[in-house]
Amino acid sequence: MSEILVLGSLNMDLVANVKKMPRIGETIVGDQFSQIPGGKGGNQVCAMARLGASVSMIGCVGEDDFGKVLKASLKNDGADVSSVKSVDGVSTGIAMIMVDERADNSIVVIPGANYSVDQRLIDENEKLIDDCKIAVSQLEVPLEVVEHFIVNSKKRGKYTILNPAPAKHLSDELIKHIDLLTPNETELETISGCKVSTIEEAKIAAKVLIDKGLKEVLVTLGEAGSLYINKDRIKHFPTFKVKAIDTTAAGDSFTAAIAVGKSEDMKLDDAIVFASKVGALTVTKKGAQSSLPSREEVNNFRGE
Ligand code: RIB
Repeated sequence: MSEILVLGSLNMDLVANVKKMPRIGETIVGDQFSQIPGGKGGNQVCAMARLGASVSMIGCVGEDDFGKVLKASLKNDGADVSSVKSVDGVSTGIAMIMVDERADNSIVVIPGANYSVDQRLIDENEKLIDDCKIAVSQLEVPLEVVEHFIVNSKKRGKYTILNPAPAKHLSDELIKHIDLLTPNETELETISGCKVSTIEEAKIAAKVLIDKGLKEVLVTLGEAGSLYINKDRIKHFPTFKVKAIDTTAAGDSFTAAIAVGKSEDMKLDDAIVFASKVGALTVTKKGAQSSLPSREEVNNFRGE
Protein backbone atom coordinates (compact mmCIF):
# COMPACT_ATOMS: atom_id res chain seq x y z
CA MET A 1 0.00 0.00 0.00
CA SER A 2 1.42 3.41 -1.01
CA GLU A 3 0.43 6.82 0.29
CA ILE A 4 1.04 8.47 -3.09
CA LEU A 5 -0.14 7.12 -6.44
CA VAL A 6 1.24 8.61 -9.66
CA LEU A 7 -0.23 8.10 -13.11
CA GLY A 8 2.26 9.20 -15.72
CA SER A 9 4.93 8.86 -18.36
CA LEU A 10 8.28 7.13 -18.46
CA ASN A 11 10.88 8.24 -21.03
CA MET A 12 14.49 7.49 -21.67
CA ASP A 13 16.10 10.92 -22.01
CA LEU A 14 18.74 11.18 -24.76
CA VAL A 15 20.58 14.31 -23.72
CA ALA A 16 23.03 16.45 -25.69
CA ASN A 17 24.89 19.15 -23.78
CA VAL A 18 25.69 22.04 -26.12
CA LYS A 19 27.15 25.51 -25.76
CA LYS A 20 24.33 27.18 -27.69
CA MET A 21 21.13 25.76 -29.17
CA PRO A 22 21.44 25.21 -32.96
CA ARG A 23 19.47 27.55 -35.20
CA ILE A 24 17.08 26.12 -37.81
CA GLY A 25 19.16 24.42 -40.54
CA GLU A 26 22.37 24.61 -38.49
CA THR A 27 24.59 21.63 -37.56
CA ILE A 28 26.62 22.03 -34.38
CA VAL A 29 29.04 19.86 -32.41
CA GLY A 30 27.90 19.11 -28.87
CA ASP A 31 29.99 18.62 -25.72
CA GLN A 32 28.52 15.47 -24.20
CA PHE A 33 25.84 12.82 -24.72
CA SER A 34 24.05 10.99 -21.87
CA GLN A 35 21.20 8.52 -21.56
CA ILE A 36 19.26 9.31 -18.38
CA PRO A 37 15.96 7.95 -16.98
CA GLY A 38 13.23 10.59 -17.29
CA GLY A 39 9.62 11.27 -18.19
CA LYS A 40 7.56 13.64 -16.08
CA GLY A 41 5.71 10.80 -14.34
CA GLY A 42 8.84 8.75 -13.69
CA ASN A 43 10.70 11.84 -12.47
CA GLN A 44 7.96 12.60 -9.95
CA VAL A 45 7.90 9.01 -8.71
CA CYS A 46 11.70 8.99 -8.39
CA ALA A 47 11.71 12.32 -6.52
CA MET A 48 8.99 11.15 -4.12
CA ALA A 49 10.80 7.88 -3.38
CA ARG A 50 14.12 9.66 -2.76
CA LEU A 51 12.34 12.07 -0.41
CA GLY A 52 11.17 9.07 1.60
CA ALA A 53 7.54 8.66 0.47
CA SER A 54 5.84 5.37 -0.26
CA VAL A 55 4.81 5.69 -3.90
CA SER A 56 3.26 3.50 -6.60
CA MET A 57 3.13 4.23 -10.31
CA ILE A 58 0.68 3.42 -13.09
CA GLY A 59 2.14 3.71 -16.60
CA CYS A 60 3.41 1.83 -19.63
CA VAL A 61 6.77 1.05 -21.21
CA GLY A 62 7.65 -1.03 -24.27
CA GLU A 63 9.08 -4.53 -24.05
CA ASP A 64 12.57 -3.24 -24.77
CA ASP A 65 15.81 -2.44 -22.95
CA PHE A 66 14.84 1.18 -22.20
CA GLY A 67 11.62 -0.01 -20.54
CA LYS A 68 13.51 -2.52 -18.40
CA VAL A 69 16.09 0.08 -17.34
CA LEU A 70 13.42 2.69 -16.45
CA LYS A 71 11.43 0.26 -14.28
CA ALA A 72 14.53 -1.16 -12.61
CA SER A 73 15.84 2.31 -11.81
CA LEU A 74 12.58 3.42 -10.09
CA LYS A 75 12.40 0.11 -8.22
CA ASN A 76 15.97 0.63 -7.06
CA ASP A 77 14.90 4.00 -5.58
CA GLY A 78 12.18 2.21 -3.61
CA ALA A 79 9.09 2.89 -5.75
CA ASP A 80 6.43 0.27 -6.48
CA VAL A 81 6.37 -0.19 -10.27
CA SER A 82 4.36 -3.41 -10.34
CA SER A 83 1.55 -1.51 -12.14
CA VAL A 84 3.84 -0.18 -14.87
CA LYS A 85 2.84 -2.44 -17.74
CA SER A 86 5.24 -3.61 -20.45
CA VAL A 87 3.39 -3.39 -23.77
CA ASP A 88 4.27 -5.54 -26.75
CA GLY A 89 4.78 -3.92 -30.16
CA VAL A 90 5.49 -0.32 -29.10
CA SER A 91 8.73 1.28 -28.00
CA THR A 92 9.35 2.92 -24.66
CA GLY A 93 8.90 6.71 -24.63
CA ILE A 94 11.92 8.77 -25.58
CA ALA A 95 12.81 12.41 -24.99
CA MET A 96 15.48 14.12 -27.07
CA ILE A 97 16.86 16.93 -24.95
CA MET A 98 19.37 19.67 -25.61
CA VAL A 99 20.77 21.62 -22.67
CA ASP A 100 22.84 24.75 -23.28
CA GLU A 101 25.46 26.55 -21.19
CA ARG A 102 22.83 28.81 -19.64
CA ALA A 103 21.09 25.67 -18.22
CA ASP A 104 18.10 26.13 -20.56
CA ASN A 105 16.72 23.11 -22.35
CA SER A 106 14.58 22.20 -25.33
CA ILE A 107 12.81 18.85 -25.41
CA VAL A 108 11.12 16.70 -28.08
CA VAL A 109 9.14 13.76 -26.67
CA ILE A 110 8.22 10.66 -28.69
CA PRO A 111 5.48 9.19 -26.45
CA GLY A 112 5.63 5.54 -27.64
CA ALA A 113 4.21 3.28 -24.92
CA ASN A 114 3.04 6.26 -22.84
CA TYR A 115 0.12 6.55 -25.27
CA SER A 116 -0.83 2.91 -24.55
CA VAL A 117 -1.98 3.97 -21.07
CA ASP A 118 -5.78 3.57 -21.14
CA GLN A 119 -8.80 3.73 -18.85
CA ARG A 120 -8.77 -0.06 -18.44
CA LEU A 121 -5.32 0.17 -16.84
CA ILE A 122 -6.72 2.65 -14.30
CA ASP A 123 -9.74 0.42 -13.59
CA GLU A 124 -7.49 -2.63 -13.16
CA ASN A 125 -5.62 -0.68 -10.49
CA GLU A 126 -8.60 0.66 -8.53
CA LYS A 127 -7.19 -0.86 -5.36
CA LEU A 128 -4.14 1.41 -5.60
CA ILE A 129 -6.49 4.39 -5.77
CA ASP A 130 -8.46 3.12 -2.78
CA ASP A 131 -5.29 2.62 -0.76
CA CYS A 132 -3.56 5.93 -1.50
CA LYS A 133 -3.96 9.30 0.18
CA ILE A 134 -2.79 11.47 -2.72
CA ALA A 135 -3.24 10.97 -6.48
CA VAL A 136 -0.90 12.81 -8.84
CA SER A 137 -0.68 13.11 -12.61
CA GLN A 138 0.80 15.17 -15.45
CA LEU A 139 -0.18 15.39 -19.13
CA GLU A 140 2.27 13.10 -20.96
CA VAL A 141 -0.24 10.23 -21.08
CA PRO A 142 -3.61 10.56 -22.90
CA LEU A 143 -5.73 13.38 -21.48
CA GLU A 144 -8.95 11.34 -21.25
CA VAL A 145 -7.11 8.79 -19.09
CA VAL A 146 -5.76 11.54 -16.81
CA GLU A 147 -9.34 12.85 -16.46
CA HIS A 148 -10.65 9.35 -15.64
CA PHE A 149 -7.91 8.93 -13.01
CA ILE A 150 -8.35 12.34 -11.36
CA VAL A 151 -12.18 12.20 -11.34
CA ASN A 152 -12.15 8.65 -9.93
CA SER A 153 -9.56 9.51 -7.29
CA LYS A 154 -11.47 12.61 -6.19
CA LYS A 155 -14.75 10.67 -5.98
CA ARG A 156 -12.95 8.24 -3.65
CA GLY A 157 -11.97 11.12 -1.38
CA LYS A 158 -8.31 11.45 -2.39
CA TYR A 159 -6.32 14.71 -2.55
CA THR A 160 -5.69 15.21 -6.27
CA ILE A 161 -2.73 17.06 -7.79
CA LEU A 162 -2.32 17.79 -11.49
CA ASN A 163 0.95 19.12 -12.89
CA PRO A 164 -0.41 20.26 -16.29
CA ALA A 165 2.74 19.69 -18.33
CA PRO A 166 2.95 19.76 -21.29
CA ALA A 167 0.08 22.27 -21.42
CA LYS A 168 -3.29 21.20 -22.82
CA HIS A 169 -6.79 22.60 -22.61
CA LEU A 170 -8.58 20.97 -19.62
CA SER A 171 -12.32 20.24 -19.48
CA ASP A 172 -14.46 21.88 -16.78
CA GLU A 173 -15.23 18.36 -15.48
CA LEU A 174 -11.52 17.70 -14.91
CA ILE A 175 -10.85 21.15 -13.42
CA LYS A 176 -13.52 20.78 -10.73
CA HIS A 177 -12.03 17.47 -9.51
CA ILE A 178 -8.50 18.87 -9.02
CA ASP A 179 -7.44 19.96 -5.54
CA LEU A 180 -4.08 21.44 -6.50
CA LEU A 181 -2.89 22.51 -9.96
CA THR A 182 0.84 23.24 -10.38
CA PRO A 183 1.28 25.03 -13.74
CA ASN A 184 4.10 27.28 -14.88
CA GLU A 185 3.13 30.62 -16.41
CA THR A 186 2.64 29.35 -19.98
CA GLU A 187 0.66 26.32 -18.83
CA LEU A 188 -1.57 28.58 -16.76
CA GLU A 189 -2.08 30.78 -19.83
CA THR A 190 -3.17 27.79 -21.98
CA ILE A 191 -5.52 26.40 -19.33
CA SER A 192 -7.14 29.66 -18.24
CA GLY A 193 -7.20 31.37 -21.65
CA CYS A 194 -5.78 34.51 -19.96
CA LYS A 195 -2.45 36.17 -20.71
CA VAL A 196 0.06 35.57 -17.89
CA SER A 197 3.20 37.69 -17.94
CA THR A 198 3.01 39.34 -14.51
CA ILE A 199 2.12 38.19 -11.00
CA GLU A 200 -1.08 40.27 -11.20
CA GLU A 201 -2.08 38.45 -14.41
CA ALA A 202 -1.28 35.08 -12.81
CA LYS A 203 -3.67 35.93 -9.97
CA ILE A 204 -6.45 36.78 -12.43
CA ALA A 205 -5.87 33.60 -14.47
CA ALA A 206 -5.85 31.41 -11.34
CA LYS A 207 -9.12 32.99 -10.17
CA VAL A 208 -10.76 32.01 -13.48
CA LEU A 209 -9.97 28.35 -12.66
CA ILE A 210 -10.97 28.65 -9.00
CA ASP A 211 -14.36 29.99 -10.15
CA LYS A 212 -14.73 26.70 -12.08
CA GLY A 213 -14.29 24.64 -8.90
CA LEU A 214 -10.51 24.10 -8.73
CA LYS A 215 -9.40 24.39 -5.08
CA GLU A 216 -5.79 25.62 -5.19
CA VAL A 217 -3.28 26.85 -7.76
CA LEU A 218 0.47 26.93 -7.20
CA VAL A 219 2.11 28.70 -10.15
CA THR A 220 5.83 28.14 -10.63
CA LEU A 221 7.55 31.31 -11.82
CA GLY A 222 11.14 30.10 -12.40
CA GLU A 223 13.64 32.38 -10.68
CA ALA A 224 10.75 34.48 -9.32
CA GLY A 225 9.63 31.60 -7.08
CA SER A 226 6.02 30.47 -6.86
CA LEU A 227 2.60 31.93 -6.23
CA TYR A 228 -0.09 30.15 -4.19
CA ILE A 229 -3.72 31.08 -4.77
CA ASN A 230 -6.96 29.70 -3.31
CA LYS A 231 -10.33 31.41 -2.94
CA ASP A 232 -9.33 33.24 0.26
CA ARG A 233 -5.56 33.63 0.11
CA ILE A 234 -2.70 34.64 -2.19
CA LYS A 235 0.92 34.21 -1.16
CA HIS A 236 4.21 34.59 -3.00
CA PHE A 237 7.13 32.28 -2.12
CA PRO A 238 10.66 33.28 -3.21
CA THR A 239 13.05 30.73 -4.66
CA PHE A 240 16.41 29.67 -3.19
CA LYS A 241 19.47 31.01 -5.02
CA VAL A 242 21.73 28.34 -6.53
CA LYS A 243 24.04 28.05 -9.54
CA ALA A 244 21.84 26.44 -12.20
CA ILE A 245 23.49 23.75 -14.35
CA ASP A 246 20.41 22.11 -15.91
CA THR A 247 16.75 22.94 -15.24
CA THR A 248 15.41 19.57 -16.52
CA ALA A 249 12.94 18.01 -14.04
CA ALA A 250 12.86 21.02 -11.69
CA GLY A 251 9.09 21.40 -12.19
CA ASP A 252 8.64 17.65 -11.70
CA SER A 253 10.56 17.56 -8.43
CA PHE A 254 8.71 20.65 -7.16
CA THR A 255 5.30 19.01 -7.66
CA ALA A 256 6.61 15.72 -6.23
CA ALA A 257 7.84 17.44 -3.09
CA ILE A 258 4.48 19.17 -2.55
CA ALA A 259 2.81 15.73 -2.70
CA VAL A 260 5.35 14.36 -0.22
CA GLY A 261 4.78 17.32 2.12
CA LYS A 262 1.00 16.80 1.94
CA SER A 263 1.42 13.05 2.60
CA GLU A 264 3.36 13.92 5.75
CA ASP A 265 0.65 16.41 6.81
CA MET A 266 3.05 19.37 6.57
CA LYS A 267 1.35 22.77 6.65
CA LEU A 268 0.93 23.89 3.05
CA ASP A 269 3.32 26.86 3.45
CA ASP A 270 5.98 24.51 4.86
CA ALA A 271 5.41 22.08 1.99
CA ILE A 272 5.93 24.91 -0.53
CA VAL A 273 9.23 25.95 1.13
CA PHE A 274 10.29 22.26 1.16
CA ALA A 275 9.39 21.97 -2.55
CA SER A 276 11.29 25.17 -3.36
CA LYS A 277 14.42 23.63 -1.81
CA VAL A 278 13.92 20.41 -3.79
CA GLY A 279 13.42 22.36 -7.04
CA ALA A 280 16.54 24.46 -6.34
CA LEU A 281 18.69 21.39 -5.65
CA THR A 282 17.43 19.72 -8.84
CA VAL A 283 18.84 22.47 -11.09
CA THR A 284 22.32 22.15 -9.59
CA LYS A 285 22.93 18.77 -11.29
CA LYS A 286 22.68 17.47 -14.84
CA GLY A 287 19.77 15.43 -16.16
CA ALA A 288 16.34 14.37 -14.94
CA GLN A 289 16.40 11.49 -12.43
CA SER A 290 20.18 11.88 -12.09
CA SER A 291 19.59 15.32 -10.52
CA LEU A 292 16.85 14.51 -8.00
CA PRO A 293 17.94 14.99 -4.38
CA SER A 294 17.64 12.62 -1.43
CA ARG A 295 15.83 13.65 1.75
CA GLU A 296 19.19 13.99 3.47
CA GLU A 297 20.44 16.45 0.83
CA VAL A 298 17.28 18.53 1.27
CA ASN A 299 17.59 18.49 5.06
CA ASN A 300 21.24 19.62 4.80
CA PHE A 301 20.51 22.33 2.20
CA ARG A 302 21.16 25.83 3.50
CA GLY A 303 20.13 27.97 0.54
CA GLU A 304 19.93 31.74 0.54
O1 RIB B 1 10.21 17.44 -17.21
C1 RIB B 1 11.35 16.84 -17.74
C2 RIB B 1 10.98 15.63 -18.54
O2 RIB B 1 10.22 16.03 -19.66
C3 RIB B 1 12.15 14.88 -19.12
O3 RIB B 1 12.68 13.91 -18.25
C4 RIB B 1 11.60 14.32 -20.41
O4 RIB B 1 11.51 12.92 -20.44
C5 RIB B 1 10.25 14.99 -20.62
O5 RIB B 1 9.22 14.15 -20.32
